[in-house]
Amino acid sequence: MFPASCKFVTLRTEGMMDRSSAERQEICDGLLQQPARIAPKYFYDVRGSALFEEITRLAEYYPTRTEAAVMQAHGADIAQKVGAGGTVIEFGAGSCEKARVLCRLLRPQGFVAVDISAEFLHDAVARMRAESPGLDVQPLVADLCAVVELPADLPRRKRLLFYPGSSIGNFDPPQALALLERFRGLIDADGALLIGIDLVKDIAVLEAAYDDAAGVTAAFNLNLLDHVNRLIGSDFEPAGWRHVAFYNAAASRIEMHLEALTATRVSWPGGRRQFAAGERIHTENSYKYRLADFHALLGRAGFARCDAWTDPRHWFAVVLAQP
Ligand SMILES: C[S@@+](CC[C@H](N)C(=O)[O-])C[C@H]1O[C@@H](n2cnc3c(N)ncnc32)[C@H](O)[C@@H]1O
Repeated sequence: MFPASCKFVTLRTEGMMDRSSAERQEICDGLLQQPARIAPKYFYDVRGSALFEEITRLAEYYPTRTEAAVMQAHGADIAQKVGAGGTVIEFGAGSCEKARVLCRLLRPQGFVAVDISAEFLHDAVARMRAESPGLDVQPLVADLCAVVELPADLPRRKRLLFYPGSSIGNFDPPQALALLERFRGLIDADGALLIGIDLVKDIAVLEAAYDDAAGVTAAFNLNLLDHVNRLIGSDFEPAGWRHVAFYNAAASRIEMHLEALTATRVSWPGGRRQFAAGERIHTENSYKYRLADFHALLGRAGFARCDAWTDPRHWFAVVLAQP
């Protein structure tokens, strides 16, 4: 399935449970919670990753193109502050589209693409290798919710951790702090973190981005049920559910849910749950930050110096954090 030249480090979650039984357990536990929840990392099977790519091209979905414009406008400044060489490590790399631009700017010796979606990652890395023959490109299938073990032979010198797309927004504040602390542990004084942050803005703009007119985000959310059916052997009927997305201003986050259209029973080996009509499964949070609050969070995680660039409307920020 994967070429022999691919180096894979498969993540092991803490304890000795293998990854798929830990995932099954996590999903089943979440389905039995009140309210039920499924972690957003399970959006990304091959179809989910492809649907996300489609979302990035939607008129309503401003984050991808706004972040790309910020990188384009301030790339030279970012490159000057980071310096050439070293290793770029992208987390949640997806299609590696943004890393491609970054690597052209920084000319690193190596690039590691970390993602949970193995097959999609493999294809993205194959494309990147074909386009950049001089660059050492390695895929790493890993779950950022746990400790990510980078390849043992990866140089520590001048590591640039790249976490674009405001994916940090999927983590609740304490989890976001823990993730930033883990990032800090992966670099030395000469390293840095370049991270994309979605900023607080008009509610109508936010809500449209997560509930587009063409229904692509709805398809992305509902595809989760097909993925979960394969992962735990459940019998969700996606047609019996609808996509719900709204901004929770008190928590400063977009919430996505799946809502049962009628009373329905879902079963899986070892468990089952009755959902009432209108009952929801919480599938994603996407926190929106104020820049000052995010700087403070970075400070608590051990990053002392921060530079930030934003677009003219202040919708999105790219932050360079150094120890
Ligand atoms: C919102 S997409 C962002 C993709 C790309 N970096 C961008 O900015 O457009 C999130 C990416 O992170 C990956 N991902 C989601 N949860 C993850 C996790 N817990 N561990 C590792 N990768 C994860 C997904 O497979 C997907 O490629």
